[in-house]
Amino acid sequence: MIKVITYGTYDMLHYGHIRLLERAKALGDYLIVGITSDDYDKTRGKINLQQSLMERVEAVKATGLADEIIIEEYEGQKIDDIRRLNVDIFTVGSDWKGVFDYLNEYCKVVYLSRTEGVSSTEIREQKCAVNLGLVGDALFLNKFLIESKYVNGIHVNALYSDNSDLIKKMEGSEIIAITNDYDAFLSSVDAVYIRSLPHYHYEHIKKALKSGKHVLCESPMTLNRSQCEELFQLADSQGLILMEALKTAYATAYARLVLFVKGGKIGNVISINSTCTSIRDVDTKNEWNNIHEWGPTALLPILQILGTDFNECRIISRFREMGNDSYSKVDLLYDHAVGMLQTGDGFKAEGNLIISGSNGYIYVPAPWWKTDYFEVRHENQNENKRFFYQLDGEGIRYELVAFVRAINSGIMENDIARDVTLKIAEIMEKFDQQQGVICI
Ligand code: CTP
Repeated sequence: MIKVITYGTYDMLHYGHIRLLERAKALGDYLIVGITSDDYDKTRGKINLQQSLMERVEAVKATGLADEIIIEEYEGQKIDDIRRLNVDIFTVGSDWKGVFDYLNEYCKVVYLSRTEGVSSTEIREQKCAVNLGLVGDALFLNKFLIESKYVNGIHVNALYSDNSDLIKKMEGSEIIAITNDYDAFLSSVDAVYIRSLPHYHYEHIKKALKSGKHVLCESPMTLNRSQCEELFQLADSQGLILMEALKTAYATAYARLVLFVKGGKIGNVISINSTCTSIRDVDTKNEWNNIHEWGPTALLPILQILGTDFNECRIISRFREMGNDSYSKVDLLYDHAVGMLQTGDGFKAEGNLIISGSNGYIYVPAPWWKTDYFEVRHENQNENKRFFYQLDGEGIRYELVAFVRAINSGIMENDIARDVTLKIAEIMEKFDQQQGVICI
């Protein structure tokens, strides 16, 4: 019996896939199809898959061509599979020509010609083409533009900005409209990503929602809780998506860490310490309050794990001459736990995250907000565990995928719950109004 194996993602199964499977089957007597897991696909740059792993498995099964289906989860697995399953022929489409020659050592490698004119990427692009406009002056928007290219179904086509350096950087790209007329800008897009100064967010979001555009806005969404509530109501009444952009929330390691803690693996959480600081030459440095810049990120694990129902919030800040803070420490006191965060711009501290519980603690090394790794530590160090999850593009591209998915399905997946967004706005409001803020 000749055993043949082939691998693929098989998102939105199309006739190119079926033709490949038919010819692969014809090479032997028994066909094994390896289907890539979602996590593995992320590391290969395939992003915004439309179907879950189970749906893709079901679709391949329904062709009746596979005698066996396996899941591909890690780099190097092909060699393992070929040996373990006694495979005679490895085959794949000619778009991979040469890439798998190294498998010749284990079995015969056959590249089958790829069917012209059809691909999952194209289908995804057609299915959910969203024109996205960028708002703001930060050079970060250029990074955002670069990251957007990894996500199928979204096209950055307009920029609303006054920053000539940014405009110069973006002029070479395929962005069609660069303008400082917000109405004209809004008329050319389906959705916007806002990274203007925080005190402009409210107006920018409101106008965009009123024009029927979906909004992804950098955190803090507003500097005032009631404005935030009003905007969510407006979005709901218009059937639009309003989502907070906080890229750390979309990093796989961070998301797994939260689930891990919620699963009770370190017992009852008693304290969370999160520190975010930077010394940098940001274009907007002088206009920003450090707490506006870093506070939402540092608050995220505390509010997501300990909840939004704390009893007291204490803020200690150090202010610059121009009136904005360069350092802030916030303590959130809960019934049986405490969340402590430190943020700073213009000084440097160890930017790690430590979540301590009755059964052990989680340690995320600096810079924890770009995390791809964490350790779970116990009293008995033999029980310690380390976890690593690939992080590409600092989480920006995964955040964009969540945004496009929400637009297409009309449902928010709740990576950042609304009460967390509202609470962040409330804490910013407390800071801005100097309610009980201790100055040092
Ligand atoms: N394939 C093919 N002809 C096509 C598309 C895919 O022969 N028009 C083959 C690929 O070469 C591979 C298998 O089908 O052996 C699974 O491909 P996969 O990467 O899942 O599909 P694509 O449509 O190429 O996906 P994408 O556009 O996301 O790269």
